[in-house]
Amino acid sequence: MASKPDSQQTLLVQAQRVQLNAHAPYSHFQVGAALVDEAGNTFAGCNVENAAYPLGQCAEANAIGAMVAAGGKAIREVLIASPNTQVCPPCGGCRQKIAEFANADTMVHLATCDGHITTMPIAELLPLSFKLTPLA
Ligand code: THU
Repeated sequence: MASKPDSQQTLLVQAQRVQLNAHAPYSHFQVGAALVDEAGNTFAGCNVENAAYPLGQCAEANAIGAMVAAGGKAIREVLIASPNTQVCPPCGGCRQKIAEFANADTMVHLATCDGHITTMPIAELLPLSFKLTPLA
């Protein structure tokens, strides 16, 4: 099997590590996410559900929050670790959250539980993402 680039392998290990900590007692669907920012720093997050269901946070949102809190400004790559053999593409809201910190080169890696990775640019997952343009 072809070996994965270093950054992907690092992100896979980190995402799968935090995935184990996901708080998902309602869906039993544990997700991990890990990203690299513009400075090469990596951040990870897992989903955190709540008894009041809409208050749950996705793994991607928590990884992005960790990056922003540490001063990171842009996402170079992000990997989402699925709990099963199907990839877990980010929900619509998370696509917009990734797009907020993305550029034309930002790649999204979708990993299955057995480490198979499918990669695509965020622009393919969310064409025509919303950008706030200043009022005239
Ligand atoms: N979830 C994520 O964390 N990321 C995704 O990209 C899709 C879904 C979480 C939300 C919820 O805790 C669980 O997976 C089931 O929807």
